Amino acid sequence: MPLILILFECGIELIPKNIRDHPAVKKNFSSRIYSSQLLDNTLHFSAMKNLRNREKRGRPDITHSCLLNALGSPLNNNGNLKLYIHTINGKIFEFNPEIRIARNYNRFKGLMAKMLIDGSIVTENLKLISSFKGTLKDLIDKFNTTKVYLFSSKGSLINDYKQLFTEDILTNYVTIIGGFQKSSFSKNILNLSENLISISKYPLDAWVVTNRIITYYELTYGIL
Ligand SMILES: C[S@@+](CC[C@H](N)C(=O)[O-])C[C@H]1O[C@@H](n2cnc3c(N)ncnc32)[C@H](O)[C@@H]1O
Repeated sequence: MPLILILFECGIELIPKNIRDHPAVKKNFSSRIYSSQLLDNTLHFSAMKNLRNREKRGRPDITHSCLLNALGSPLNNNGNLKLYIHTINGKIFEFNPEIRIARNYNRFKGLMAKMLIDGSIVTENLKLISSFKGTLKDLIDKFNTTKVYLFSSKGSLINDYKQLFTEDILTNYVTIIGGFQKSSFSKNILNLSENLISISKYPLDAWVVTNRIITYYELTYGIL
């Protein structure tokens, strides 16, 4: 069975209406160019000053790096990764293992804006990104498992990766990594699992953790 990986509270959203008239937004915005409609802290920093929760918002670059790491892994090639992003606004999307995410950041932003506007990304015969209708808890419940791991630098440190995936390969493991740069998990997610796990004595970037968790899983089950 697959490793289920959820990138939680990713800074992926369309530019909020209340800052659309700000000069920093107007400068780049075009209703004909998808990528210009996505909130991006690098371009919209001054317009974001008064946004609630702003330290977690406008960071498509973090999601981009995590997705490239996850989708390019042997585990994904082998068909054993189930990948979701949960956005800062609570929307959840599932990525088809066969999707080829643009390496170019601007093209990636365009894809994310289109996904949010249309609710999915489909080609003629394939659903590449689909929306999951429900909450994070609904999604986790779907996998009917007690093995739900929240990864955090504040969790209990594991000394050996072999301590993580101890059940046989048929077990569903749900792993949750924060898709943000600063701040920590909001309280409601901490109620979803008692397993708060740290994999290093250092706080790491989300894409490093993504890569490591997948690698640990691959090494445990001999997927190379
Ligand atoms: C850049 S961090 C978020 C900021 C925060 N300083 C932290 O470490 O929780 C992004 C995500 O990477 C994961 N992460 C970072 N350091 C970790 C560690 N030492 N062990 C496990 N997960 C970690 C967590 O899921 C975190 O939400």
